[in-house]
Amino acid sequence: EDAYLITHALAKDTLSTLRSIDTEQVAFREGLIELGRVCGYEIIDGAMETEFVPLQTPLADTTGERVTGLDDVVIVTVLRAATPFVEGLMKAFPQARQGVISASRDEEAGMNDDGEFPITVGYLKLPEITADDTVIVADPMLATGSTMCAVLDHVVDAAAGFEDLIALSAVSAPEGVLRVSESVPDADVLTVAIDDRLDDDGFIVPGLGDAGDRAFG
Ligand code: PRP
Repeated sequence: EDAYLITHALAKDTLSTLRSIDTEQVAFREGLIELGRVCGYEIIDGAMETEFVPLQTPLADTTGERVTGLDDVVIVTVLRAATPFVEGLMKAFPQARQGVISASRDEEAGMNDDGEFPITVGYLKLPEITADDTVIVADPMLATGSTMCAVLDHVVDAAAGFEDLIALSAVSAPEGVLRVSESVPDADVLTVAIDDRLDDDGFIVPGLGDAGDRAFG
């Protein structure tokens, strides 16, 4: 229902690497991994709770602080550009269960009058999702929002409930942020940047090009 910006300096720095036309495939993939890691830490910092726990150091009894809920995290990879992004997220959430969904825009059909693409969903495999779970759907690009909305609909349908539902992207267009917020009110949109606009082909401008092509060739 809300949109939040990830403002960590390292996220902005890494996104700038990803945006640059001079960044080649290997560095691009590494950048996506790094960005995923930082976004993961930011989600922990911003969306998760901590609790105080008693513990013993070698010298004394004291109180420590632990993040709660790290065992109840589900991360959904939207093929294919999210693969390296999720690799980074997993560094922040090593215990997460994972879902995979292949969803892509039917580029030939083109955008309809509402600025929406028809989405083809192929492979879909989700773990069991329960009311305790923080669910993170990761896709580096949120352009028209058509893909993210289709994926979120499947996740919401399959889930027996959830604590939080987060649509995480690296770079977004205003149209996509709006579409997700309006069509999936249960989801929070989290992104590193909201860019100027979409061009006539539904690409984010200035954006970073086609993340799937740049990461995988
Ligand atoms: C890109 C991107 C998103 C989607 C965003 O994927 O990775 O999944 O487009 O666009 P939207 O918000 O307008 O739906 P693409 O369909 O190019 O597939 P790919 O990742 O396999 O290249």
